[in-house]
This record gives sequence, structure tokens and C-alpha cells, in this order.
Amino acid sequence: MTATKGLEGIVATTSSISSIVDGVLTYRGIDIDDLAVNASFEEVVYLLWFGKLPTQSELEKLQADLNANSEVPAGVIEQLKLYPKNTNSMAALRTAVSSLALYDTEANEMSREANVLKAIKLQAKIPAVIAAYARIREGKEPLASKGYPSLAANFLYQLTGNEPDKVAIEALDKALVLHADHELNASTFAARVTVATLSDIYSGVTSAIGALKGPLHGGANEAVMAMLEEIGTLDNVELSINDKLQRKEKIMGFGHRVYKNGDPRAKHLQKMSRELGKITGNMNWYDMSIKIEDMVTGQKGLKPNVDFYSASVYTSLEIPRDLFTPIFAISRASGWTAHILEQYENNRLIRPRAEYTGLENQKYIPISQR
Ligand code: ACO
Repeated sequence: MTATKGLEGIVATTSSISSIVDGVLTYRGIDIDDLAVNASFEEVVYLLWFGKLPTQSELEKLQADLNANSEVPAGVIEQLKLYPKNTNSMAALRTAVSSLALYDTEANEMSREANVLKAIKLQAKIPAVIAAYARIREGKEPLASKGYPSLAANFLYQLTGNEPDKVAIEALDKALVLHADHELNASTFAARVTVATLSDIYSGVTSAIGALKGPLHGGANEAVMAMLEEIGTLDNVELSINDKLQRKEKIMGFGHRVYKNGDPRAKHLQKMSRELGKITGNMNWYDMSIKIEDMVTGQKGLKPNVDFYSASVYTSLEIPRDLFTPIFAISRASGWTAHILEQYENNRLIRPRAEYTGLENQKYIPISQR
């Protein structure tokens, strides 16, 4: 038995949800470039869960179902108020999503119908939990959803209390489309491993949130913004990036386990970053990002991934830095739940082996002789 570090190149399951072949990402066979330009997030959610694009009436029913299930239980809101100040926002989300199960009498119901309903509840409540948490820590009361057809619009309203503008809704909606699913990424794998024991969907999504939190995965988008803020200005980029590269520091938002010739999602986010920079009148983050890309790609051959330009996009939307990864979770909840539903349909326990590298032929030594 020989281990493959990081399971690189190992095909661990079959799936008909999304694929990456020769650098092209598809959801249910539709190219991400096509979806990024044409689809709304709710259409993508339907596509991932049900395997086809919705008709107008199917879309409206999904939007209504999401709105009808967006209220966060009062008990979870009370808990959010008790979290210590400065709680990491992904840790808060992870704990709150686990708590949602306590308030769902059908949490352990395993029929497909019950699990689809729980997927709707999770997709609807995760943005509401994040917005509530963000307001509570600022001493503000959480807001109920306004019932817009767009989840992006509802989230922006519940976060800020202001009527969201069209540009912000469209930008966030597109970012949600781009992050919705990505084959067997680390958090999706974590979700599938958890539910393959026939544990419940809340446990699967809680595992996934824990995996997404790390800076080698979803946490990279916050780390990118931290780096941009630390560098500060375009003039500082050259010295700072050269210094990081010389010290063999990882540049956040670059590289990918699967894409070696570039992440197809990055160009859409780069374009959004430029457009939003122009609209806000602040091109600093975009200009810095372009220069960093030139240097890192030029010197290391590494291309930006989905996290690199999403940092400047969310900053232009005036979203606090520590909500970037939770926003990733809002979107990826659709992919996680689609994969969980797929796993239940054709389940087998996921239990690989380990190549043992420890000591052998040891004997127990009584404690008095150690
Ligand atoms: N900056 C500098 N060097 C890098 C970077 C980077 N961002 N990424 C990879 N490398 C280098 C490594 O140092 C290593 O070099 P070495 O062979 O000389 O030691 C080589 O490229 C291979 O890197 P690994 O980390 O082994 O590649 P792996 O496939 O395991 O990791 C990963 C992929 C985690 C994405 C990696 O590229 C990375 O850490 N990137 C930065 C974090 C990041 O942006 N994560 C988000 C990924 S997208 C997502 O999850 C949504």
C-alpha cells in the first residue's frame, strides 16, 4: 500500500454534478463561461440540485421556497449574541449551522424529499445567519429578509439595512454563480465523507464549512485582501512580492491542485474587479492585483485562482474582509448539498486506507520502567 500525498490525481467517486476536463469547468455539462454570463444564482442552484435548468415557474417556486425558509430560529439568533467578541466569522458560521439542526424536527429524516427541503433551508438560512452575525457584532439587530427573488439582494439588504443597488446585486450574484460548485474540492469531499456514514445533511454541511475555512481553500480570499492591505500601494508591490517569493512564501490566491494553466473563473472576477474599481473610483486594489499577477505568473508560472480577484470585488462592494469566506460558503452550500443528495442516492461508506510508517514490533513497557 503506497499513499499519494494529498490524494493528488486520485479519482475518489463518480459524480454527474460538475466536471473539470482540460481546464474547462462545467456544471451539469454547461460551461462556467456560459453560466457566468447568462445564469442567475438561483438558476444554478436548481441546476445543481435537479440536473437541469428550471422553467420560469420552477425558478419562481424555488425563489419562493428560499424566501419562505430564510428565517433563522430565535434560538440560533440568541446563541449568535452569546458568541465571544472577535469570534472568527467562519467559526461562528460553522457553529450556527450545526445549531440549525437542533431547531429542525426533521434533521434526521433521510428521504430524498426531506433532504431536498433541508437543502433549501440551509441555502436560505446560511446567508441570513452570516448577515445576522455581522450585525450583532456591531451592536445592531438582525433584519428579516425583504423577500426579493434574488438571494444576493436579500443578503446585501440583511447585511446593511440599505436597499441594495443593481450593480452590487449583479456583481454578488455572478460571484455566487462562479463559486457554486467545483467537483471534488476539499470541502465537498469533507461533506461527502461525513454523510457517507449516513449522518445527516447538517453534519455534512458543518464539516464542509470547517474545511472551507482553511487558507489553502476558501480562506484564501480573505488572505488575499490581507496581503493587498499590507502592501498598501502599487508602488510597494514589486519590493513586497519579490521579498515574499525570495522567502518562498506562498502568494495567496495563486496556484491550484487541478488547474495548471489557469482557473477559468478568475477572468470573470478580474473583469468584475476592474469594472467595480471604475464605478467606485478606486482602482488601487485592481491595479495592485494586476501587477501581482504579472510578477507571480512571470516568475513562478502560477496563475490566479478563484480567490484572487474575488478579494478586490468584495472590497469594492464594501463587504468586510472577514465575510469573504462566509460568502464563499453561501454559494458553495448549493454544491455541497447537491453532492450530499448525490451521495445518499448511491451511498457507500468512504473509508480509505493509510500507508503505515510507524514503529513495528514494539512491546508494552510497564509505566514504572519507562
Ligand atoms: N505561491 C507560491 N508558491 C506556490 C503557490 C503559491 N500560491 N502555490 C503553489 N506553490 C508552489 C509550492 O511552494 C510548491 O513548490 P515546491 O515544489 O518548490 O515546494 C509547488 O508550487 C506545488 O505546491 P503545492 O502546495 O504542493 O500544490 P498543491 O496542489 O498541493 O496546492 C494550493 C494547491 C493549495 C491551491 C496551492 O497552490 C496554494 O497553497 N495556493 C495558495 C492558497 C490559495 O490560493 N488557495 C485557494 C485555492 S482555490 C480554492 O480552494 C477555492
